[in-house]
Amino acid sequence: MNIILLGAPGSGKGTLAKGLVTKLALFHVSTGDIFREELAKKSPLGQEVASYMSSGRLVPDKLVLEVLKNRLAAETRGLMFDGFPRTVEQAEGLDAWFTSRGQNIDAVVFLNVADDVVAKRLGSRRTCSGCKKIYNVISNPPAKEGVCDACGKPLFTREDDKAEVIARRLQVYKDQTEPLLAYYRSSGVFLEADGAQSPEAVEEKVLALLKSRA
Ligand code: AP5
Ligand code: MG
Repeated sequence: MNIILLGAPGSGKGTLAKGLVTKLALFHVSTGDIFREELAKKSPLGQEVASYMSSGRLVPDKLVLEVLKNRLAAETRGLMFDGFPRTVEQAEGLDAWFTSRGQNIDAVVFLNVADDVVAKRLGSRRTCSGCKKIYNVISNPPAKEGVCDACGKPLFTREDDKAEVIARRLQVYKDQTEPLLAYYRSSGVFLEADGAQSPEAVEEKVLALLKSRA
């Protein structure tokens, strides 16, 4: 099964993906996580994407597609995409890639959340520097401040979770990613969930939607 999670920055794609990949035995593909790992390693790719990410702009389509094709060439598990595709060009590239492998997209899940809610969530997000577990100092804080419950490593605030970068990311989403809703709505695999509910309720709803399609 191949699934795409679609939604604004802060809509809960990463939080939902972490639970679903275990339950559905899928491979989690987060382009944001891939780029942040490369940034942390200071690799040539990390250096190439640094300025795009810190300013909230999208990494160029050609580069994103090239990185994913290389990383996924030998992958045989079902895929859960989180944060990809983000432009119509990326979606067309993904369609062509699946066709070349004799595969297809089984579901596109759109997490619908209002702008003011996502902006508030992003401003209060913390991420584990070790296992990448996602927290929120308001709605989902760790037991011990600044420390991951799961692996004990320190939590950090993402560089692109500053107010001015959050505003840019939301605008970029509207301009470049929202057109994907129309692209996938006509594909027959489009599903929509209210992402403003609790993480548990969102997961339950999405599992039910996926089951109804199986
Ligand atoms: P990326 O890492 O993909 O960031 P994003 O799309 O901006 O999304 P976020 O990770 O910010 O939010 P999310 O939806 O995962 O929410 P989360 O679960 O964390 O991309 C970063 C950058 O990389 C881009 O700006 C770009 O530069 C580059 N990039 C990446 N992919 C690219 C691509 N394909 N093409 C080009 N460039 C690319 O949740 C957020 C907060 O809310 C957390 O605190 C969480 O605890 C909380 N929360 C989650 N769900 C709920 C809930 N249901 N109720 C209450 N709180 C919740
Ligand atoms: Mg994310």
